[in-house]
Amino acid sequence: MKKVGVLISGRGSNLGALMSAEGSAPYRIVLVISNIEGADGLRRAAEAGIATLAIPHKGKSREAFDAELDAALRAAEVEIICLAGFMRILSDGFVRTWEGKLINIHPSLLPAYRGTRVHERVIEAGEAQSGASVHFVVPELDAGPVIAQANVPVHPGDTPEALAARILQIEHKLYPAALRLLAENKVKLEKGLAVFS
Ligand code: GRF
Repeated sequence: MKKVGVLISGRGSNLGALMSAEGSAPYRIVLVISNIEGADGLRRAAEAGIATLAIPHKGKSREAFDAELDAALRAAEVEIICLAGFMRILSDGFVRTWEGKLINIHPSLLPAYRGTRVHERVIEAGEAQSGASVHFVVPELDAGPVIAQANVPVHPGDTPEALAARILQIEHKLYPAALRLLAENKVKLEKGLAVFS
């Protein structure tokens, strides 16, 4: 059973999906941390009896903030970190320390559409497909090897909101499935590649 820490900044619907899938899964969420006090996801976790922590980032250097995160995660004996709508860039040092144990979900078919304003850019480009990806986190933003990916169609006349909502539905299935693979050691980060066994 792997101990998981989830980092969030907002509503935490992916956190909710990871929590819902826990029953039969090889992981337990032991700590939820947000850089935003009062994030909806913190309330969601606390109501379910999960330990929560707000670590505000304002007025701190990136390294000082990440050191606080790291200390809290280690104190809770976290083995895998899931970023779930965590809107802070982590320092290279933090990412390297947790390499192979740190994953993120991104609402595009990576390596396409890294970064922000994803749905707007997908629609502007006239793509017929978009989707979601769970990937290992590496220092370069949204550039880590993909563990799992799922597609959705982009419909004519889609708004960014409509597309985001369609993708969010599949994120909620994809993230627990990808975390399960990692928790069961069925995927590893080796020499910059996601290696499956
Ligand atoms: C999701 O779309 C995720 O892919 C992106 O941020 C959003 C978080 O949503 N990284 P939620 O907080 O999990 O509801």
